[in-house]
Amino acid sequence: MVRSTVIRLFGLALGVTLIAGCGGTDAPKQAGTSDNSVSGAPSSTPLPPAPGALPRIAVLATGGTIAGKSTPGSGVGYTAGQASAQDLIDAVPGIDKIATLQPEQVANVGSQDMTEEIWLTLARRINQVFADNAADGVVVTHGTDTIEETAFFLDNVVGGDKPVVLAGAMRPATALSPDGPANLRAAVTVAAAPQARGRGAMVVLNDTIHGARDVTKTHTTSVQTFVSPNSGPEGYVDTGSVRFVKSPLPHQRPRFRLPDAAPLPRVDIVYSHAGMRADQVHDAVGHGAKGIVLAGVGDGNTAKSVIDALAAANDDRVVVRSTRVGAGEVMRNAEINDDELGFVTSADLNPPKSRVLLQLLLANDITDPTRVQQEFATR
Ligand code: SIN
Repeated sequence: MVRSTVIRLFGLALGVTLIAGCGGTDAPKQAGTSDNSVSGAPSSTPLPPAPGALPRIAVLATGGTIAGKSTPGSGVGYTAGQASAQDLIDAVPGIDKIATLQPEQVANVGSQDMTEEIWLTLARRINQVFADNAADGVVVTHGTDTIEETAFFLDNVVGGDKPVVLAGAMRPATALSPDGPANLRAAVTVAAAPQARGRGAMVVLNDTIHGARDVTKTHTTSVQTFVSPNSGPEGYVDTGSVRFVKSPLPHQRPRFRLPDAAPLPRVDIVYSHAGMRADQVHDAVGHGAKGIVLAGVGDGNTAKSVIDALAAANDDRVVVRSTRVGAGEVMRNAEINDDELGFVTSADLNPPKSRVLLQLLLANDITDPTRVQQEFATR
């Protein structure tokens, strides 16, 4: 709904016709190339599992609080990324009745230390698993702090229609009542569900299924921290059922070509506040940023001197106006003349996800502001 609104408005603003999910076929397409296949993505219809067989789910672990253990003698303290993929599975009684699980340790970090190298490794591995028809779905365990960025990255680079479900936890594995085992069980249940196909990457915590574009973390410690502020959750999961409340997108979106190696093009986020000066912009330019995302106040606005600095920076790089407000869309040409200044607006993408998308666009040589704007409206 949000996406189609943005497409319509922006289509009117630019006089272009945009079609959501313009792939229109089962084959994933790449943005920025004429090639219709994603490297390592499935090129043919996978064989269904043998009759009566359990779905096969690969569990790729990356760390986070879900794999966290208490630090001896530290009271509430714990260290993220301690337990292994197999440890996480072993903590969920009966999970082997839902799916045949294939654990793999991709990394074991707190997600504040998530890197572009790990993103690329993860995406390549998932594309390979699907290309080999080695699993019917993938679950990624991940720290909650940056799970929304990884989910959005994977959503844009993993081909095919099999589900990729990210799960985390707000309490470490050694807590009095850890939420990780229930979240992992829920994520596996979703990844194993036939109706999860064609929905891209999702985040599952606290019995709720969120789409990668919409989901965001809203509370520092509560188990009810993830929301989809602009369009609501994709659905719900409990021990007995998976219930989607939104339809899947009608067609698969083109996926980006996965960059061969890190680093991705540098994109900096500058955070607006009362009394802001242009120093953050000068710093980003000075450090070689190829793109700048403004975490603006309100509708993506900021101080006049910062707008001037962004407009000057715009000659050699792409500037995207996003907002530090947790919900709503940044509208083109409302408070700021984007057409005149050459800015892109982020639609409903928050600053970290705007950064991920701009990095992928720049890595795929998509730099023209009109084209970049189209991608922000439709991804
Ligand atoms: C992290 O993001 O790795 C730590 C916090 C968490 O997983 O909830």
